[in-house]
Amino acid sequence: MSRQIIVGNWKMNGLTADSAERARTIAAGLPAGSSAEVVICPPFTQLAALASIVKDTRVGLGAQNCHKDEKGAHTGDISPQMLTDLGVSYVILGHSERRQNHGEIDETVREKAVAATKAGLTPIVCIGETEDQRQSGETQNTLGWQIKGSLPDGFSGILAYEPIWAIGTGLAATPDDIRETLSFLRAELIRQFGETGKSISILYGGSVSADNAAEILAIQDVGGALVGGASLKPDAFLSIVRAASAG
Ligand code: 13P
Repeated sequence: MSRQIIVGNWKMNGLTADSAERARTIAAGLPAGSSAEVVICPPFTQLAALASIVKDTRVGLGAQNCHKDEKGAHTGDISPQMLTDLGVSYVILGHSERRQNHGEIDETVREKAVAATKAGLTPIVCIGETEDQRQSGETQNTLGWQIKGSLPDGFSGILAYEPIWAIGTGLAATPDDIRETLSFLRAELIRQFGETGKSISILYGGSVSADNAAEILAIQDVGGALVGGASLKPDAFLSIVRAASAG
């Protein structure tokens, strides 16, 4: 299995003092010789400060969104170049909270992924089905369309599968469900991207915790985890990182 990636999505959490403390604790607590790649994605306002904190550590830095343009009349937006300028390497795109609360559609996400890649960022593109879609047997159909619409030609980033019903609920998808969905996603990636589709990492996200991480990360083809709530607690986050390293 290739190197697993553990990404902490802090969402809209983190003021100056607690963010710095959390980043330092995570960097200091990384297991020696860890085989996992670790990335933290704080809010935009903390990126500059955390860039200098994680600079010479093994913790990578990501943002939670970006605009598709390099610059211009887009009040309140942040371009991919502004992120690389700070030392940011990753960007989460198309998170369900942005799709739901900010009207982002597959096309928006795809354009952002192109722009992010061009700027030198690694996009982490999120897809996932709602509870209704799941109940009506539409999971694979929904994910198939999201892959087709959200990932640009020649995509070389990371895909994150986050079932919306599992986000923030404490109820992660079962290992059987994850296994089945990931094998579908892998087949779709190969259908769409050919040989490259074999090497795109697929992360699982949705109520990943210190308790369930080992089981989830041991599933065939899980390339890592996108962690929300548990990434705010360094102890829990570091346990998840250790679970990845052990895999
Ligand atoms: P939780 O881990 O809090 O369920 O959040 C998952 C998520 O949305 C990460 O992007």
